[in-house]
Amino acid sequence: MPRTDALLIRGGHLIDPSQGLDAPGDILLAEGKVAWVGKPGEPPPQKPAQILPAKGLVVCPGFIDLHCHLREPGFEEKETIATGTLAAARGGFTTVCCMANTNPPLDNLASVEFVLRRAAELGAVRVLPVACVSQGRKGQELAEMAELAGAGAVAFSDDGDPVASTRLMRHALEYALPLGLPIMDHPQDVSLSQGGVMHEGWVATRLGLKGMPSAAEEVAVARDILLAELTGGWVHLQHLSTAGSVELVRLAKEKGLPITAEVTPHHLALTHELVLGKSPDFPGLHPYDTRTKVNPPLRSKEDVAALIQGLKDGIIDAIATDHAPHTRVDKECEYDLAASGISGLETALGLLLGLVHRGEIGLPDLIALLTSGPARILKAAGIPGLGTLQAGAPADVTVFDPDAEWTVEPEAFASKGRNTLLAGAVLRGKAMATIYGGKVVFQG
Ligand code: DOR
Repeated sequence: MPRTDALLIRGGHLIDPSQGLDAPGDILLAEGKVAWVGKPGEPPPQKPAQILPAKGLVVCPGFIDLHCHLREPGFEEKETIATGTLAAARGGFTTVCCMANTNPPLDNLASVEFVLRRAAELGAVRVLPVACVSQGRKGQELAEMAELAGAGAVAFSDDGDPVASTRLMRHALEYALPLGLPIMDHPQDVSLSQGGVMHEGWVATRLGLKGMPSAAEEVAVARDILLAELTGGWVHLQHLSTAGSVELVRLAKEKGLPITAEVTPHHLALTHELVLGKSPDFPGLHPYDTRTKVNPPLRSKEDVAALIQGLKDGIIDAIATDHAPHTRVDKECEYDLAASGISGLETALGLLLGLVHRGEIGLPDLIALLTSGPARILKAAGIPGLGTLQAGAPADVTVFDPDAEWTVEPEAFASKGRNTLLAGAVLRGKAMATIYGGKVVFQG
């Protein structure tokens, strides 16, 4: 008798960096778990009810995003848990960690429980909430961190803003240490970055826009590393964007300090020249286009090269989208006034595969940074078992075509946030099916 829920993904190329798997094969999912991985054409141990043909496609563990903004509660005009998780599914993500800069912020039990309840009712994929470091994200007093961890928070972050007070950051690390959870910091010295709207460099000078120097990030990265050393607490550095930050993290890791780090697809693939608005690859861009505005800002070619090298050297642990959906009203205004952020869940894979197609990173390495890399971080934070196709693991699987060419049409996004500078660009590579807990949540 075929099991009613058993799904065979047949004829694909399996890539699972968690077990060094990179070969053609079939995979059977049943009862929400990976039931079996076999050679091409080998008969599965039970008859599937459904077959997903995957010839010519890559089959890998579902992608994990350590950093996205789902905006609920409070900013439902930008995104909701339903639309954000659908966007995640379309992008190949089966797990997303959502940030706490909602309204009210996720600094109390009720808000964290609300997010988990909404996600259980309406979410297309797994949602792991990140709670605030400080009450109201105001940077004054610590949130009730133990209580928030008890409610299901997997980390703490005031993202959108850094933890500006060094003293508060120290205490946050001391409180988080026995909970076994990281403080995810948006590293930025606001006294240096204040008023800046893009990278401080020649483009900002030419356009007459105030810049944020790379040092504004690096000062904060250095501070966080020193505090990790002082307290033994775990700092996870968010959206690193500069060559200097990579060097600092390299030194910290050499010393064996409890530091992990992420980088976004846009900081790996795009540079500050795009604010000038002329680019053959991004046809819709105009000078001072607010869709290029993001925090931290798009940096220089040298920074991009250093970030890619950081990935290859294992200095950076994960790629995270920092999906930051905004409304037209938030973005269609002067550059200085526009909201920062890029709607990134649905373009992440295509943008990142550009690195593979240009020979800048290998495909298994890229997949590792979207699966086993972030999974290692979640495991250390008490969420084991993700980011692998090993038998018994949750049946979270992404099937993608690394070569499919498509034109980015923000109006067709599942996300409410259409704020992408990639509008009209042609990307090569796209998720074709996303399976979460054995259920097909997206099929292209
Ligand atoms: O560009 C950004 N947008 N950077 C952040 O850190 C926050 C995010 C947002 O919430 O819109």
